[in-house]
Amino acid sequence: MKMRFQLWLWLLVSLWAFTGVLGDHRERYREREGKGEEEWEEKGSKRGLFILDKWEKVVESEGGEVRVVRGFGSPRDHWSGFDATHKGLLHIGFISMDPKTLFVPQYLDAGLILFVRRGEARVGWINKDSLVERKLKMGDVVQIPAGFTFYIVNTGAGQRLQIICGIDASESLGLANPYEAFYLGGGTFPKSVLAGFDTKTLATALNVTFEEVDTFLGAHSRGPIVYVTDEPAGREKKHRDGGLGFLDSLAEQTIFPFKPLKNMLSWLLGIQDNNTVKTPDPYNLYDRDPGFRNNYGWSTALDEHDYKPLKYSDIGVYIVNLAAGSMMAPHVNPRATEYGIVLGGSGRIQVVYPNGTTAMDAKVSQGDVFWIPRYFPFCQLASLSGPFEFFGFTTSARRNYPQFLLGRSSILKTMLGPELAAGFGVTESSLRDLVDAQNEEVILPSWPEPERKREKEGEERERGVVRN
Ligand SMILES: *[C@@H]1O[C@H](CO)[C@@H](O)[C@H](O)[C@H]1NC(C)=O
Ligand SMILES: *[C@@H]1O[C@H](CO)[C@@H](O)[C@H](O)[C@H]1NC(C)=O
Ligand SMILES: *[C@@H]1O[C@H](CO)[C@@H](O)[C@H](O)[C@H]1NC(C)=O
Repeated sequence: MKMRFQLWLWLLVSLWAFTGVLGDHRERYREREGKGEEEWEEKGSKRGLFILDKWEKVVESEGGEVRVVRGFGSPRDHWSGFDATHKGLLHIGFISMDPKTLFVPQYLDAGLILFVRRGEARVGWINKDSLVERKLKMGDVVQIPAGFTFYIVNTGAGQRLQIICGIDASESLGLANPYEAFYLGGGTFPKSVLAGFDTKTLATALNVTFEEVDTFLGAHSRGPIVYVTDEPAGREKKHRDGGLGFLDSLAEQTIFPFKPLKNMLSWLLGIQDNNTVKTPDPYNLYDRDPGFRNNYGWSTALDEHDYKPLKYSDIGVYIVNLAAGSMMAPHVNPRATEYGIVLGGSGRIQVVYPNGTTAMDAKVSQGDVFWIPRYFPFCQLASLSGPFEFFGFTTSARRNYPQFLLGRSSILKTMLGPELAAGFGVTESSLRDLVDAQNEEVILPSWPEPERKREKEGEERERGVVRN
């Protein structure tokens, strides 16, 4: 009898919950239907549809802060096609740390791709079972997997540390915050996850007294980013190589090839250089030769082939530097959504809708964040006042194969033929003349006096001297 009553109650409750869920879904669906094309507008800022300027301060502490701007596809967005999986969900974070500070050990429900914008850092994290430490300098890119504990120390003498990070939330818990931080280090503020266990459990697990547990967990109350009086000596070498690390430091100071010697010694002594094998060194975006360079700028794209850890987070990294007035030719990313952060200078971002109308033509300058949806044609133009540098992430670590629409290496050029000419409704020869006029590719020079040239051409046309 009692059993049957419970069954009924259970049925009733689940029915109620089910209709609740259903109702909620319908509501959301209706909202979605109703909005249709205005969705784009809803997300965009006043400055432009694809400018991200809704900042959230997720960490505020005595020694620094972390600000995050959410990427497109957050569960909060009605439009997002990512409701269930968060796949491709990427946020952009800005970590700013005073000199002599430590970002206390923690792990996140999101993978991080750190890029050192300014300053120097020492980052330590757990890679499988061992501690890996790396010294980072300006331009370094390093990946920290979700769920593994890490810390960051600002080692720059008297220098602020600025890190821009891609926060890969594709495996996040999907809670209200852009990401969830689980602090290992901590006490009362931030609260250590250890504090969630009862004192007896901790005392038993640690094999110490209750008092010792209380002292241990009550000590830290200064926030997630704290001043450290003396920078603790780096443990990099000791942990990295199990004893032969000194040869690395010798190698750094001299030109004698200690590395092969070390490898041989490792082999003889049976010491395996485990971390070095499993964890590639940080990849520096400035030290390498750019993937593309001409007189008007350069660009480098980093994918899983260049830096293996990117494969696990499935995020690519790129950096572009345009000379004053030049432009990245109109192109399309067939494989990824792109996020960009302006590092220096100013310029414009133009994005086009599928229906061939302008979706955005926005002015951007240092510190601005923008995004470009996959498949949308776009281009970046540097202002005439100076070089325009931007850096960012793509939501795929595979080779991106950007498709240039214009320029010497463009689709227009590759596909040139009767079909394309017919597609434009012009003769093949006139299309060829048009397409061949541009000798440069990818990054195109400025056209400083467009008005005058257009005027001149107009005159020529009147006088009948134009080609064809
Ligand atoms: C093109 O598409 C956008 C967004 O979908 C819409 O806002 C705009 O009105 C469309 N323009 C035309 C001319 O159809
Ligand atoms: C706990 O600590 C005591 C000494 O303080 C030691 O004798 C004992 O072996 C430890 N127990 C465990 C399980 O480590
Ligand atoms: C390296 O890894 C092997 C197993 O993969 C292990 O047996 C060995 O102890 C490790 N060596 C070091 C120095 O950590």
